Amino acid sequence: VTAELRVGIIGTGVMGADHARILDGATSGATVSVVADMDTERAAAVAKGLRQARVVGDGLELIGADDVDAVLVATADSTHEAFVMACLATGKPVLCEKPLAPTAAAGARIVDADTTGLVSVGFMRRFDPGYVALKQAIKSGVIGLPLVMHGIHRNAAAQPGTTGASVITNSAIHEIDEVRWLFDEEIVAVTARTPRRTGRFDGAVHPLLLSLESASGTVSEIEVTVAAAYGYEVRGEVVGETGTLALDAPPLVALRSAGQYREDIPGDWRPRFAEAYRVELQDWVDAVRAGVPSNLASARDGYLANVVADAAVASLAGGTRVEVELPSR
Ligand SMILES: NC(=O)c1ccc[n+]([C@@H]2O[C@H](COP(=O)([O-])OP(=O)(O)OC[C@H]3O[C@@H](n4cnc5c(N)ncnc54)[C@H](O)[C@@H]3O)[C@@H](O)[C@H]2O)c1
Repeated sequence: VTAELRVGIIGTGVMGADHARILDGATSGATVSVVADMDTERAAAVAKGLRQARVVGDGLELIGADDVDAVLVATADSTHEAFVMACLATGKPVLCEKPLAPTAAAGARIVDADTTGLVSVGFMRRFDPGYVALKQAIKSGVIGLPLVMHGIHRNAAAQPGTTGASVITNSAIHEIDEVRWLFDEEIVAVTARTPRRTGRFDGAVHPLLLSLESASGTVSEIEVTVAAAYGYEVRGEVVGETGTLALDAPPLVALRSAGQYREDIPGDWRPRFAEAYRVELQDWVDAVRAGVPSNLASARDGYLANVVADAAVASLAGGTRVEVELPSR
């Protein structure tokens, strides 16, 4: 394959702008040809920083454009299904930011429509060097059988409109996919709860505690705090029979001065996962150009994460442990 892949990006907010910059400037074999956002000024500002991208207002127009070979969807979660379905209708490969959809019902419709594996989902932790090394270490048997995972996921500030359910379907969905991928097995039961209420948070953005039980009995205990105030942080530790594997947040810069030690904490996810996004996008471009499936999460992976997320939403609402009904599809 010699021709550059012409990628169209729908949604030029935080993620779309970042992906555009990486695809156009730090990925081989790809160029961003068209960007679309209903905020056309935002799209135009992003296009300015790219080599030769034109701007359209409408995502469906972008999907149908002759100068778009493949599509990246980075709009709000509720809009993913319609754009992914339109890509499938035109036979164009699509990388959809996580989550594939906000509900399992929507995810199922996409799985049914994606008969040839055109859909990839942006669960970038699968490409983070730390998570890749963690998975390899677990597989090597160095800590024996994995028994417990502790996971911490904190955002500085919640997005406007955040609800208890969206903390699960939008944020904790990263851990849901990660646990399935890390341990190579399905999640069979979930328990979601929150600690005591305080005036510091509104109800929706209280810390969320999720317990994810894998088929073989490994239990992952996850804390997701979407309004942690101090910065962005993702960490974890896997406890096995003979040792533990810790995945610490890599410090950006550590300062020793005036009798003190200080590490910077990033304000959001982009510095923490910069390499993961780059490797993920390169994998996708290479696969699409070669006409083979990418190593990204598939539509089915995205859907199965949706199924577990729906069970977690039910657990949070009902205050009980919920068994996941794994679909046969
Ligand atoms: N993988 C990750 O680490 C990660 C991190 C953050 C966000 N995300 C996901 O990426 C997606 C975008 O998140 P964001 O933080 O960039 O949001 P954002 O609000 O910054 O950007 C979304 C953009 O999409 C545009 N948009 C929304 N609906 C549209 C429509 N129907 N047609 C055209 N444009 C539309 C908005 O105008 C906005 O510019 C979300 O699905 C989110 O869950 C993934």
